[in-house]
Formats: sequence, structure tokens, C-alpha cells
Amino acid sequence: MALQRSTPPRIVSPDVQQKEATAVDVALRPKTLAEYVGQSKVKGHLLMHIQAAKGRKEPLGHSLLYGPPGLGKTTLAHILAREMGAQIRLTSGPALEKPGDLASILTNLQQGDVLFIDEVHRLRPVVEEMLYAAMEDYALDLVIGKGPTARSMRLHLKPFTLIGATTKIGAISAPLRDRFLHQFKLAFYDLSEMQMIVERSASLLKVEMEPRAANRIAGSSRSTPRIANRLLRAVRDYAQVGGKERVDAASVEQTLQALDIDVEGLDATDRGILQTIIDTFGGGPVGLSTIAAVLADEEETIEDVYEPFLLQQGYLQRTPKGRMATKRAYEKLGRAIPEGAQSSLFG
Ligand SMILES: Nc1ncnc2c1ncn2[C@@H]1O[C@H](COP(=O)(O)OP(=O)(O)OP(=O)(O)O)[C@@H](O)[C@H]1O
Ligand SMILES: [Mg+2]
Repeated sequence: MALQRSTPPRIVSPDVQQKEATAVDVALRPKTLAEYVGQSKVKGHLLMHIQAAKGRKEPLGHSLLYGPPGLGKTTLAHILAREMGAQIRLTSGPALEKPGDLASILTNLQQGDVLFIDEVHRLRPVVEEMLYAAMEDYALDLVIGKGPTARSMRLHLKPFTLIGATTKIGAISAPLRDRFLHQFKLAFYDLSEMQMIVERSASLLKVEMEPRAANRIAGSSRSTPRIANRLLRAVRDYAQVGGKERVDAASVEQTLQALDIDVEGLDATDRGILQTIIDTFGGGPVGLSTIAAVLADEEETIEDVYEPFLLQQGYLQRTPKGRMATKRAYEKLGRAIPEGAQSSLFG
């Protein structure tokens, strides 16, 4: 059986299209704030606000969670509901097609329920407008009838908490953003946190693993828990097929090679982005749509899934004129840095 593939599956990419969580995803999801690794600042604030809200016997204030895919926004929303002793109702911006869809969810909420709206930046304007009064006054303004006989009616809702999640904070309108009392940005995880996540998942999956192997998975997972969990499962398969009872560093190497993921966790698409900017466009600046066209990939995928990590790791810079490769990117690809390159980027 050939383990190598010509086009490796995109294990590194947090899937933006496929939003449904699999059974394993759910099993690996931390259930309490204490189990939720890292994000200590966010956790500290949340614990305090949860305590205060519980003390007043009120729902938690509306909260917005934002940050790149796979860092734990949905997981945190579930945890918040649980810590508040509340039920959670799940929906998403694109799923709420008509104001009526939102109205029926809102009128069915019980006192203190959490309503989670994923991809909250993708709400349609008519639906979003209905949300304003719901968030501010726990009210639903309905227009009944049409034309001159139309009248508006205000329904009262039970106090609830809206938790919105988004990978694109900049795409949320100011009126909506301002109605979230708390706004939390999830950050990329550091190596020791990633290692804890890998070890925790391995123990839940009953995978025996050398510490060096866990460290290697942690370092190649783009500082993103979802990727670490996927990589761990792929490594487990390679180890099992290879007849190993314990996952060792060699199984990890073999998996990374098969998936075309390098030491820093960059995959073929990441390198393709850097190559395009450096080799085709002289280091940039080059627009996102041009990069997407050259790579025959979606602009949104590049911007939401690939770019945040490349920016965070200092391979890319965003300028008003487009994306530019940094010194680190040139070094990564082993290209000579051009003479006369902007010293601000290469300093
Ligand atoms: N802090 C954490 N500690 C341990 N595991 C985590 C943590 N955050 C996320 N995970 C794991 O990573 C997986 C992905 O997290 P989650 O689905 O919450 O990400 P997300 O931010 O909602 O992503 P998306 O933007 O794509 O919706 C979860 O199934 C969970 O197992
Ligand atoms: Mg999510």
C-alpha cells in the first residue's frame, strides 16, 4: 500500500466549509473552563463575569468571540453555557435566511438560555436589524400586515445571552459590534499549550505516545488546536498501520512527510502563497485576488485560513497596496533577498 499521495489532504487547513463537528471533535472538546487550555486572559475575564452574573442571577452579557478558525470559539461558547448552567441553542449567520427564522428561535428561548450564532458576520441586514432590539431590550419588533393597515407590535423576550463567533471581526457592522458587552479575541497557542492539547487529546483517544512525538505534532500544527487534533489522528493511523503500539517521533515524521507539512507546520498552499509573492511578483505588494487566481484557490480561504498564521509568524506583511513577503519568507524558500528591498520589511 502506498502511503505517499500526490495531493495530500489539507490537514493543516482548518476547514471553513465543513462546519459540522464530527463525533471525535465533540469527544475531544474540553467541557469546562478548567479543561480549556491556554487563553488565560480571556478565561480570567470570563470567570469573573460569569461569577458576577451568577451572583446577580442574571444572564451573562452578550459576548463576541473572534479569531482565526480552529482556535476554540465554538468550544468556548459551549463551555460558557455550561458554566452558567444554561442551555445552548446553535445557529449561524448563513442559516438565518429570513427575519422569521430568527424570530422563531428568539421566541422559543427560555430564561437565561445562550443563543450561539456562528459566523455572525454573515447575517443578512434584515435579520441583523431584528437582533438589535433583541439584544438591547430583549424585545422583538414585528410588523403585522402590509401597506396602510400595517402596524408594528413589540413582543417581549426572556432575558438571554447572545454569543457570536467570527473569524472576521472587521466584517461586523459597528451597530452589531457595539451591542456585545464583552468582546474576546482568541490568540494562537504557544508551543507548551499546544503540547498540552496534544497530550490531552492523545489520552482521551487512548493513544500511547512518546513526549518527543507530542512535541513534534504540537510544533507542526500552526498553533491551532483543531489542526493538532487532526494531525494526531493521522499520526495514530500511520503508527497503527506501521504495527507500532506506541506513537514515536518516526511515525510523526512519516505522517508530516506524507502530508507535505514542513517543520514549521507550513503546507504546500502556504509555501505556494509565499512562492507566488516572491517568484511571480518580486516580493509584492500583490493583491489577495491575484494570489488566489494564481493558486486557483478561494480568496476567502487564503484570507481566513492561511494568511493569519503566515502573518503571525512573520512570513507576510499586509500593506495598503497588498501582501508583501518578508525576509523570513525569502529565507524559508531559500531565495536571495533582492537588492534595494524595502528596509522596513527586511529590517
Ligand atoms: N483551548 C483549548 N483546549 C483544548 N482543546 C481545544 C481548545 N480550543 C479548541 N480545542 C479543540 O480544537 C477543536 C476546534 O475548536 P473549535 O471548533 O471550538 O474552533 P473554532 O474557533 O470554533 O473554529 P471555527 O472558526 O472554524 O468555527 C475543538 O474540537 C477542540 O477539541
Ligand atoms: Mg466554530
